Amino acid sequence: MSVREEFDQWAAEGRDRGMEERHWHTAKHALARMPVADGDTILDLGCGSGYAGRALRETADAGRVYGLDASPEMARNARSYTDDPRVTYLVGDFEHLPFADDSIDHCFSMEAFYYASDPHAALSELARVLRPGGTFYCAVNFYEENVHSHHWPEMVGVEMTRWSEREYRRAFRDAGLYVAGQDRIPDREITIPSADEFPTEDWESRDAMVERYRTYGTLLTVGVAP
Ligand SMILES: C[S@@+](CC[C@H](N)C(=O)[O-])C[C@H]1O[C@@H](n2cnc3c(N)ncnc32)[C@H](O)[C@@H]1O
Repeated sequence: MSVREEFDQWAAEGRDRGMEERHWHTAKHALARMPVADGDTILDLGCGSGYAGRALRETADAGRVYGLDASPEMARNARSYTDDPRVTYLVGDFEHLPFADDSIDHCFSMEAFYYASDPHAALSELARVLRPGGTFYCAVNFYEENVHSHHWPEMVGVEMTRWSEREYRRAFRDAGLYVAGQDRIPDREITIPSADEFPTEDWESRDAMVERYRTYGTLLTVGVAP
C-alpha cells in the first residue's frame, strides 16, 4: 500500500485523532522549544490531523501556518478541525514543497519524515524554503537506536527509512543545515501497567515497554538554515 492510501484509510476511520493524542505526549515538548516569533510562517510536514500548527497559532502567535500532507483525507480532516483563516492544510509531498525559496521561518515534523521516498531530497527542499536562520524541528519515534520500533514497516505495511541519530545529523549537514541540537524526549505520560500484567499483546516484558517510552522516546533533531 502507498503512504497516501494507508493514511487516507487512517483518516477515513478517524484514527488521526488517536495518533494526535499519542504523539502529543512528546510533540508538545518539541513545539514548546521552537523559537517562533509573532507573525512567523510555519510549515508542518506530514501534519496528519494538523494539531501542531493549530497549537503554534494558539500559543506562539505564529502569523501563518501551513500543514502539508500526502493524504488528501488527512488534509480534509485537518481543515474540518479549525476555522482559523491563517491556518491552511495542503496536499503535497516532502520532495516538492509548494513554497518559494526563503519563505518559511520554522518547520516542524512529527512521526512523518521517515516516510519520505527520498529523505535527502526532502531535506534539500526544506533547506531551500527555510529563510536564513530558519529551523527544522524533526521528531521521530522510528530510528535505529530505538530497537522497539524496528518492526513497524511490516506492521504498517509501507516503506520507512530507519536512520540512526548520527545518520540524521549527517543528512542534515549534507543538505546544508547546521545541526543545532539532538536529543530524546521521553514519553512520561503513556500508562505503563504493573509488572504482573505482562506479557501483553504488544510487549514481552514491562522493562521493554519502559525502555521504549521512557529511555528512547522521541528523537528530536534540530536543523538551522545558514
Ligand atoms: C504517522 S502520521 C503523523 C501525523 C502527525 N504529524 C502526528 O504527529 O500525528 C504521518 C503523516 O505523514 C504523512 N506523510 C508521509 N509521507 C509523506 C510525504 N512524503 N509527503 C507528505 N506527507 C507525508 C502521512 O500521510 C501521515 O499523515
